[in-house]
Amino acid sequence: MEYRKLGNTDLELSTITYGAFAIGGSMWGGNEQQDSIESVKASIDCGVTTLDTAPFYGFGLSEEMIGQAIKDYDRSKIQILTKFGLVWDGSNQGRGDYFFDAEEGGKKIPIYKYASKANVIKEVEESLGRLQTDYIDLLQIHWPDHTTPIAETMEALDLLIQQGKIRAAGVSNYSVDQVKEARQIVNVASNQVGYSMLNRGIEQDLVPYALDQNVGIIVYSPMERGLLTGKYFTEGKLKDNDHRNGYFQQFDLQKVKAFLHEITPLAADKGATVSQLVLRWTSLQPGISVVLAGARNATQAIANAKAMDLVLTPSDLVFIQTALAKI
Ligand SMILES: NC(=O)c1ccc[n+]([C@@H]2O[C@H](COP(=O)([O-])OP(=O)(O)OC[C@H]3O[C@@H](n4cnc5c(N)ncnc54)[C@H](OP(=O)(O)O)[C@@H]3O)[C@@H](O)[C@H]2O)c1
Repeated sequence: MEYRKLGNTDLELSTITYGAFAIGGSMWGGNEQQDSIESVKASIDCGVTTLDTAPFYGFGLSEEMIGQAIKDYDRSKIQILTKFGLVWDGSNQGRGDYFFDAEEGGKKIPIYKYASKANVIKEVEESLGRLQTDYIDLLQIHWPDHTTPIAETMEALDLLIQQGKIRAAGVSNYSVDQVKEARQIVNVASNQVGYSMLNRGIEQDLVPYALDQNVGIIVYSPMERGLLTGKYFTEGKLKDNDHRNGYFQQFDLQKVKAFLHEITPLAADKGATVSQLVLRWTSLQPGISVVLAGARNATQAIANAKAMDLVLTPSDLVFIQTALAKI
């Protein structure tokens, strides 16, 4: 495993960071809790020290799974990244920023983006309880809330740093302008954003800014929620209540299939899987601090951690880029 410093903080994170969205179950067709806990433990046993979760993932369940999984490990050697600012209890209706309706047990649950100071403080206490810990290494606003001034949210993060409840402040899904505004109030360690071989928009604006200003970039959905593993082209079917039934439709699936077919021999030559090649490629792109890799069982978690053993030469990178240009 490789470890990288995050922005201008003293946090050192594992380049493959465990992504705990799917083990929340909700939106992902559910998951066995035993598998979830074992996936986290298997990651840590392979050298992954950093875990990314959020209250929204499974409406608290993902954080609970992380809390249970890390009980037997030395807390000081693990970095917990969590978030705040997506609320579902309905108590903020009319105040927050409506996001979308999640479905849980056949019921529609409206989700709001809400990051007032009081809400940040409240959510942190709830997260600490579910995670069974007394501090969070990196606390990130999950999505921008247009109903709360950025300064107010960042003041809450600054206060939490002073109180020792969080080690560093981060943002997620922020534009470059929003990051600039936030940094006037608090040292923003990182921006967590979507990035993959199929989604490279941040290379235009966030990457140059982050490199120049030493702001970390934490990337999510590097395998495009499993699409880039290639497995849905050959095996298995998603459950009806899996959000990826819709999510995958944004891509030209025939072109993605042809691309994966083209890079499969390169992966095989290196004794790796396509998803390991995808993760390694992502980790080597300029400005990328760490790669969040989602896993719902130990087998996936181990394979993802081992992706960092893969060596890609400059000519391998050119080969991949040439194949990508056809999509
Ligand atoms: N800040 C945000 O707004 C935001 C948004 C999305 C995600 N995230 C974070 O980023 C993390 C990673 O992104 P993600 O979970 O959306 O997507 P991802 O990492 O691109 O894909 C995860 C999915 O890929 C499949 N997979 C993973 N490893 C595999 C392996 N070795 N072999 C075969 N299949 C494998 C699994 O699919 P199956 O479930 O079908 O087995 C898994 O659920 C999340 O867990 C979360 O922490 C943040």
